[in-house]
Amino acid sequence: MTDLSRPDPNTQTEAKPDAIAPPLWLLAELTYRCPLHCVFCYNPTNYTDHSRELTTAQWIDVLREARALGAAQLGFSGGEPLLREDLEVLVGEARQLGFYTNLITSGIGLTDARLDALKAAGLDHIQLSFQDSTQELNDFLSSTRTFDLKKRVAASIKAHGFPMVLNCVLHRFNLPHVDRIIDMALAMGAEYLELANTQYYGWAHTNRAQLMPTAEQLQEAEAVVNRYRKEIGERCKIFFVVPDYFETRPKRCMNGWGAVFLGIAPDGAALPCHTARSLPGLTFPNVTETPLREIWYESDAFNRFRGFGWMKEPCRSCDEKERDLGGCRCQAYLLTGDPANADPVCDKSPEHEHVVQVVRAAATRTPEQQPAKEQPILFRNDANSRRLAATGDSRPQAQDQDQAISRGERT
Ligand code: FES
Repeated sequence: MTDLSRPDPNTQTEAKPDAIAPPLWLLAELTYRCPLHCVFCYNPTNYTDHSRELTTAQWIDVLREARALGAAQLGFSGGEPLLREDLEVLVGEARQLGFYTNLITSGIGLTDARLDALKAAGLDHIQLSFQDSTQELNDFLSSTRTFDLKKRVAASIKAHGFPMVLNCVLHRFNLPHVDRIIDMALAMGAEYLELANTQYYGWAHTNRAQLMPTAEQLQEAEAVVNRYRKEIGERCKIFFVVPDYFETRPKRCMNGWGAVFLGIAPDGAALPCHTARSLPGLTFPNVTETPLREIWYESDAFNRFRGFGWMKEPCRSCDEKERDLGGCRCQAYLLTGDPANADPVCDKSPEHEHVVQVVRAAATRTPEQQPAKEQPILFRNDANSRRLAATGDSRPQAQDQDQAISRGERT
């Protein structure tokens, strides 16, 4: 495996500050605390190892430094950002600085009083998540009773005049409900509906065997989406993103490492992508110790996968490398054990067969069949996080399958 704890001479010489564009998109993950326990959460499975949170003053410094660097879009996320009582203060500061602000929320805690305060503070946009169109599945997947509350919150968001994106993560359980999910979004007056098929990081990777759909499920869902798009026109814009595992070319993840995206974790760690903390050997600088400008332009963590100097074959000599930049570093690590490898979603990768086998294993079960009972679904909660953190293994279930595939065993 590539040793990430040592500076890479290739990236060090290639990534000069004057060749690096400023960040555009700042994601402020205000807290890892969350009232929901979603089985596909992208937060690190060992999030309980990072429970410290920046103070209000520290977050304000982050916003000022990021805006001075050039960031223009700001997402407040978590965990559940509404658990921070200073959210309105931070939104107000962001507004004054000229950010376009988006609140990414489960809706739990979004009372009329808070909506009033967020409106007054200048919040631009709200992205509300649902887990399904049915109470039964919504509440099961989040391990809470929140479906009715979310519906009330959606109505309040509209009543307060906010543009609303409804977000629903798709997987084996709810793909057959896509028509009803779209109907629900239309009934709620959503301007945008983001049907985001699960990508397998964090808790979703841990629960991959349970969540992975079949190709038929995806095709049927996409056909439904296309039918609705024709019927409803501009009334609601529907996004449908196919899971990476069903592609043969990787995505240009984050539009490039250290290219436009700057994430700040609740404890102040600066991250080039949401799940970068899963990569071993990289040390992520903290905003409480290092100025953001220095982090963005000069830190080893942000320079490590910029440009092309870090690439191995087959990416290094690939004529498509400028299009996809080798794909996703976190996926390369999760599936091959080395973040500097080609993303194995690419069928030019020598490890692409690994992805094919995971998809094939899902296809051998009917959608009603759940995977082996010895792999119970793991909810995102503090007890499970501590357990995973204690074993030092953030990916036990999928890892078993990944290792079996690497040994050449059928799964
Ligand atoms: Fe980390 Fe793709 S999610 S590089």
